[in-house]
Amino acid sequence: MRLIKCKNPDEVSKEAAKIIAGQMALKPDSTIGFATGSTPVGTYKILIDMYKNGELDFSKITAFNLDEYYPIEHKNDQSYYYFMRDNLFSHVNIDPENCHIPNGEAKDADAECAEYDKLIQEKGGIDLQILGIGQNGHIGFNEPDENLFCATHKTKLTDNTIEANSRFFATKEEVPTHALTMGIGEIMKARRIILLATGKNKQQAVKALLNDYLNTNVPATMLKLHSDVVLICDEDALS
Ligand code: PGA
Repeated sequence: MRLIKCKNPDEVSKEAAKIIAGQMALKPDSTIGFATGSTPVGTYKILIDMYKNGELDFSKITAFNLDEYYPIEHKNDQSYYYFMRDNLFSHVNIDPENCHIPNGEAKDADAECAEYDKLIQEKGGIDLQILGIGQNGHIGFNEPDENLFCATHKTKLTDNTIEANSRFFATKEEVPTHALTMGIGEIMKARRIILLATGKNKQQAVKALLNDYLNTNVPATMLKLHSDVVLICDEDALS
């Protein structure tokens, strides 16, 4: 795992954007795995600026999102469907047909998840996966547990995650209790992975990533088994 140490969240965003832009330059028809949450928003802003300056072309890019609340309507402004349009997709020339997000409106969650993994396979797998990390060490919505799922699946959110995400909702009770998430196995199939971590509240999770143990109670530690992970952290997350 390669570590890029940054001074602050702005630098983290710049480093991440550089890697994503590099991937797009090397392979204009890349399949990119996108993440939601506060951490990658700065990176997406830079990508939008680069697109507007004519430096990036999303026309052949395929996007797969890591996760989505379940159930949730697309039109809910807290859905990740809404988030990705708001923070990236509607500002660049990506083809909406190529933007894939687990469907929070699906009637049959298991069928949706199986279909999602099949589609990733059909598109040739993910070239570059962008990840954030939860305070509890989750990646996607793979929450700390004795067992971790490989495939995309429906999962119950932990209290810690509900609490952390309640900042986006009017009340904690409004946070969905479940989600659809790519599993650890699907994430690990990505050819390259970048993980962004900023802020003091990520210190514990980052520390676990940098020590020598695999621990299903810190799901991100599974990334130690991947051969091409870049961890991009600011000083607060590292100290
Ligand atoms: P955050 O979320 O970027 O909003 O901190 C990260 C995550 O929960 O994976």
